[in-house]
Amino acid sequence: MAIDTNTLKYLDNVPGPFYVFELPVRVWHWLHALSISTLIITGYLISSPPPSLHGEASTHFVFGYIRMIHFIAGMVFTVGLLVRFYWAFVGNYHARELFVIPVWRKDFWTGMLHELKYYAFLTRKSSKFVGHNPLAQIAMFFTNVLLGLFMICTGLALYSQGTGAGSWADRMFGWVFIIEPSSQTVRMWHLFGMWIFLTFVIIHIYMAIREDLYSRQNGVGCIISGFRRYRDDGPMGPQ
Ligand code: HEM
Ligand code: HEM
Repeated sequence: MAIDTNTLKYLDNVPGPFYVFELPVRVWHWLHALSISTLIITGYLISSPPPSLHGEASTHFVFGYIRMIHFIAGMVFTVGLLVRFYWAFVGNYHARELFVIPVWRKDFWTGMLHELKYYAFLTRKSSKFVGHNPLAQIAMFFTNVLLGLFMICTGLALYSQGTGAGSWADRMFGWVFIIEPSSQTVRMWHLFGMWIFLTFVIIHIYMAIREDLYSRQNGVGCIISGFRRYRDDGPMGPQ
């Protein structure tokens, strides 16, 4: 039987497995995770630099390498998000979920309310979703898309201070300093974004593993194999 996964989101008795995350989305996810982790570590070191080493700076160049790794990861992050955006147009229905929040759908809000209760341990009954659950979807949109764009704009604006007036980075992102002329304030907002991203990452990994352990659907396995699978009960008994 052909099943239209586009309309299956909130059904209870779904047989599965369903092919949800296509290969480009999975590859992007792990590349994105790697680039963000690198950006958080190197960004933190830029904001709280380690003590300088003895000797000529040019002989060890530690801080230069930290910044260089940050810029490379920043470019991977930027190009990755652009390619992921392109895939939202050519990929399957679930490839669009990251960018489109169905605020007009009542079942989106009831689903989100249920997930909030579920994560707050106010109900043990877990729902089944084919794609993202509504709470994850909204969190991913605000952090990985909106905050991601904010980090790209502020990051490349700061980068343009190194490449100089008239460079590509200055021509494309110099407008950030028209909105906020203080480079120090732009740095502060860029740093603040890092802490929001770090908070997302911690909660996201906790929820992905918790989903695998306690809910009726797979989590981590789904973003590795692409297939959503279901079971009738979890370690906490039939739900
Ligand atoms: C999730 C993404 C990102 C995170 C978490 C992040 C984090 C950080 C942090 C914490 C700092 C130190 C701010 C300070 O206290 O001065 C920083 C600096 C910087 N970031 Fe990012 N960043 C991200 C994306 C980017 C991107 C996409 C670029 C573009 C290339 C970029 C370029 C820069 C530059 C140029 C600096 C200033 C370096 C310096 O002054 O030595 N960042 N970043
Ligand atoms: C470290 C940084 C990470 C970031 C920024 C991140 C970000 C994201 C994003 C944006 C998506 C949505 C994918 C899409 O629709 O295109 C996603 C999905 C997912 N991620 Fe991550 N991820 C990270 C690490 C991890 C890790 C380490 C795990 C596993 C332990 C994981 C498990 C998952 C799962 C299971 C999904 C699918 C969620 C669902 O079924 O709705 N992620 N992640």
